[in-house]
Amino acid sequence: MPFDATLETRLNIEIEATVATAPSFAKDVLAGLSAHPKTLPPMYFYDAIGSRLFEKICKLPEYYLTRTEHALLKRFAPQIAARANGNLALIELGSGSSFKTRRLIAALLAQQGGLHYFPIDISATMLTRSAKKLLREYPELLITAHAADYDAGLRRIAAEHFTQKLVIFLGSSLGNFEPPQALALMRKVRAHLNDEDYFLLGVDMQKDAAVLHAAYDDAQGVTAAFNLNILHRINRGLGGEFDPALFKHAAFYNAAQSRVEMHLRSSRAQEVFVERLDRSFQFAAGETIHTENSHKYSDAQILQMCRRTGFRLVQRWQDDKKYFSLNLLGPA
Ligand code: AVI
Repeated sequence: MPFDATLETRLNIEIEATVATAPSFAKDVLAGLSAHPKTLPPMYFYDAIGSRLFEKICKLPEYYLTRTEHALLKRFAPQIAARANGNLALIELGSGSSFKTRRLIAALLAQQGGLHYFPIDISATMLTRSAKKLLREYPELLITAHAADYDAGLRRIAAEHFTQKLVIFLGSSLGNFEPPQALALMRKVRAHLNDEDYFLLGVDMQKDAAVLHAAYDDAQGVTAAFNLNILHRINRGLGGEFDPALFKHAAFYNAAQSRVEMHLRSSRAQEVFVERLDRSFQFAAGETIHTENSHKYSDAQILQMCRRTGFRLVQRWQDDKKYFSLNLLGPA
């Protein structure tokens, strides 16, 4: 696969019209804060400040997810790459900094000499920054980046002709979807795969609640700052008058639903005005805004999700403590 040597000719960035226009932050905040119980969509964590805080979370001693998945990729990437038939294209949903993906990119380059990588991410800035870094590091790499949501990105990629595809969705990002949406996403990916293609899914496993509590309520308070940033964002973007000091980060494991829940708890009764919404919102003392669910799975649940979405489990890799799993799926 001979690729042109200059960086620009090896990089193609496409920005979807839907991403170029601002998402409906005001509409979503109005709906979420008017609901009972109050909620805010977790996608709004990730402005520039929130994304930096998330990168800090990934390096925390308590947040085992990133470290464990990275170690699994480091160890098993050659086994995954060995499934490539010589011209496999790598497609990543929610690529972010592409930090962990390097392991797979390096293994695939070693396996087949060249690689076309298609990262899909909502943030064009992040895509451009990480793509340029990768291209500098790997002269045999070609990148077509899509600044788009997963749906739009997958639709765009469907227009390409591939010999073989590996779609990857890492970091336990599937866990932030509600179960029906997680199944819908898996079905969507499945619809884009042919018999020789694969889907690599990073999944956080069910475990001791104390480990989960520590991971989502760390000693340095980085996760608390990440959660509270959503209120700062409403203040900055919508003229909100939240006093973040009057809300406390709360994270706990809801065993019945196998998920860590994150909330912002109002420490007293208060009324908060949001200028751009021209509305006030009432909070009772102790009332929460539910900001995120992070689902944790069992082996049986992963198999069941595969069955319900037209996949078979080809191979699974786990760490010694069985905290995290990398699941290689293929069409059933
Ligand atoms: C991005 N996502 C997989 C993270 C998680 O663990 O659910 C987001 C996060 N929330 C708190 N800490 C990290």
